[in-house]
Amino acid sequence: MTTPRIAFIGAGNMAASLIGGLRAQGIDANAIRASDRGAEQRSKISAEHGIETFASNAEAIQGADVIVLSIKPQVMKEVCQDLAAHIGEQQLVVSIAAGISCASLESWLGPRAIVRCMPNTPALLRQGVSGLYGNVQVSPAQRQQAEQLLSAVGLALWLDQEAQIDAVTAVSGSGPAYFFLLIEAMTAAGEKLGLPRETAAQLTLHTALGAARMAVASDVDASELRRRVTSPAGTTEAAIKTFQADGFEALVEKALNAAAHRSAELAEQLGQ
Ligand SMILES: NC(=O)c1ccc[n+]([C@@H]2O[C@H](COP(=O)([O-])OP(=O)(O)OC[C@H]3O[C@@H](n4cnc5c(N)ncnc54)[C@H](OP(=O)(O)O)[C@@H]3O)[C@@H](O)[C@H]2O)c1
Repeated sequence: MTTPRIAFIGAGNMAASLIGGLRAQGIDANAIRASDRGAEQRSKISAEHGIETFASNAEAIQGADVIVLSIKPQVMKEVCQDLAAHIGEQQLVVSIAAGISCASLESWLGPRAIVRCMPNTPALLRQGVSGLYGNVQVSPAQRQQAEQLLSAVGLALWLDQEAQIDAVTAVSGSGPAYFFLLIEAMTAAGEKLGLPRETAAQLTLHTALGAARMAVASDVDASELRRRVTSPAGTTEAAIKTFQADGFEALVEKALNAAAHRSAELAEQLGQ
């Protein structure tokens, strides 16, 4: 596969992570360009990654195979409407913006190949996970290009239906915050049990990291791993029974439903 030429519209946090990931994969700086409305942001990204930057979005996309829309959802409509006259038929548009549907993007840019992605914040450390959905115009080669882009910052998983993006948002998009909440709660509980705060925090963090690494490396699912560490009438069982008696699983389901519902609601509002 030849290296696609990639143009980023909006050179903020997510674009910087993706560019860093691509550069780390050995993609030449000449194959990447970015535009941003902020001069400071342009100098920063150009100094960090050695790429060419532009104040004009229309100029940045010239000659690009892939155009990554890495701006906030609130400015997407205006940016797309300005780009519409300059964009070529063969150019793949990859949007990483939350809550902007392919239909909205097509209504602003015209009918075309679009991949919509939902990455998450650990992408900043190249430890992210993304859900990707491509519309029917996306060719197999373009699918590979989008996958290569998102794999630069973590795991990239394809979805069959665009509506599943709301579920991805609920599980992994918003997911890091759920783990942060559990980390906060366990640290506070450890402190109440008599540990110094810093010790409780380190124990919690390294337990979360170790458990996640163990689950990722394992060939059995999380329920089996849990069963293996839960001895009958032991300490783990005492805690798990307490979680379950108060409806832990139902609460998690309710929380994720609320996130998915909100994602669909925002898409409705932002896509107007
Ligand atoms: N960060 C995450 O973890 C994450 C996760 C999933 C999805 N996303 C999505 O990724 C997208 C980018 O997020 P981010 O965190 O990277 O945002 P960000 O840091 O604010 O980056 C966006 C950049 O685009 C610039 N910009 C705004 N309007 C522009 C325009 N008309 N033309 C060119 N550049 C323009 C912004 O400049 P100003 O600062 O001057 O506005 C900013 O430098 C969002 O749509 C978000 O939903 C982010």
